[in-house]
Amino acid sequence: MTHGVSLDWLELPPALDQARLPMPPSTADFLQLAQLANLLTSLFWGTNDFYESPENRLAAARSRGDFRMDYVVARLADDADAPGRIVGYGFLGLAREPGASTAEVWVGVHPGFRRRGIGSALLGEVEAEALRRGRTTLQSWTDNALVDPAAVGSGPVFVRGASLETGLTPVVPPAGERPGTGYPAVRSDAPDAAFAAAHGYGLAQLEWCSVLDLARAAGSALQVESASTLGEDYELIGWQGRCPDEYAEPMADLLGRMTADAPAGGLEVAPEAWDVERLRAEERAREAIGLSMVTTAALHRGSGRLAGHSDIETFRDLPQAAYQGNTLVHPDHRGRRLALLLKAANVSRLLRVAPTTQRLYTWTAEENPAILRANEELGFVPVSTHPGWQKRL
Ligand SMILES: CC(C)(COP(=O)(O)OP(=O)(O)OC[C@H]1O[C@@H](n2cnc3c(N)ncnc32)[C@H](O)[C@@H]1OP(=O)(O)O)[C@@H](O)C(=O)NCCC(=O)NCCS
Repeated sequence: MTHGVSLDWLELPPALDQARLPMPPSTADFLQLAQLANLLTSLFWGTNDFYESPENRLAAARSRGDFRMDYVVARLADDADAPGRIVGYGFLGLAREPGASTAEVWVGVHPGFRRRGIGSALLGEVEAEALRRGRTTLQSWTDNALVDPAAVGSGPVFVRGASLETGLTPVVPPAGERPGTGYPAVRSDAPDAAFAAAHGYGLAQLEWCSVLDLARAAGSALQVESASTLGEDYELIGWQGRCPDEYAEPMADLLGRMTADAPAGGLEVAPEAWDVERLRAEERAREAIGLSMVTTAALHRGSGRLAGHSDIETFRDLPQAAYQGNTLVHPDHRGRRLALLLKAANVSRLLRVAPTTQRLYTWTAEENPAILRANEELGFVPVSTHPGWQKRL
């Protein structure tokens, strides 16, 4: 027991049967955890665009072929009104690539119970478990600060808390440790950065989260599409949900390139091997959480292979928001503004197939200027910073 809380690794319930009373303890625990997770995201964002239903969180946590996720919770030991109340949680995510040495970690604490050592206790437990499982490089993505889109380009001015002039101390890692030339945009006094620094994590990559107002997106998407000079060599194809059988093999091929090619900053990334079986398993896992992927791809007519693709995630539970997934162009087909065209055509497809969607979110590494420029051209505006932290045990 630490600081009035006890830590338990959760046993995941087989299903969330909330009608069965008394509720099995594993169901009650998981519902509490899901509620706390939603509270933390909505407090940061001030919107429920990142709400995740308990059912979806459970399905995502269930062991899959390629990823394993475990949750640990911090329970108040002495809350007479709510015995066993969960006030913090952490997770350990392990990719199952053979020989993988990395682990994804995260902890969150209810705002009413911070600065009592609960976050540190959770992280200590998660790190120890990672080590027991042979992982020595720990990585974590956090939400750092909401930004004023108008200020991007002229220097970081944050919407919440102190401005640059009144006490922002950007985190600037030692020269050579951080790639990219973007200006420092991590608030070192935000809880995530202060906590990460206190536990020996260094900034390894910075992503910008940007959002596209879909009520105004049709014009710029169409403009990009009509200005395209791709000619007869390529044909744009697309689908929603499952990849058609005829494209499954070239699609798996393309996905295998993503981990090899996407900029990772200073993060260690294990290459992923993809085949049709893995693609189908991934699609089944998405269906289980009500995730339907909207995809546009470029078919290279000469070879019958896919030259690139762009994905957008839509969720049954969240009709108002969608999330940009991968955009990838095969090295043989780069330099033709294909990424921009694929993204634009996929935004148009989203507007057709999911017309209730109001906002499209995207996360882009600061050292990926091609995609940042493409986002800007499509009308995305930066809304927050999303640092990636890393620690080697
Ligand atoms: C980050 C977070 C988990 C910290 O939880 P916590 O229980 O308050 O953490 P602890 O009490 O163990 O803090 C340990 C140390 O981290 C640093 N720290 C944590 N929060 C801080 C803050 N708001 N400002 C400055 N330093 C902070 C301090 O050095 C602190 O030690 P101290 O209290 O003795 O000064 C919590 O603020 C949170 O849930 N934030 C939202 C989720 C998130 O960003 N998680 C990312 C971390 S993986």
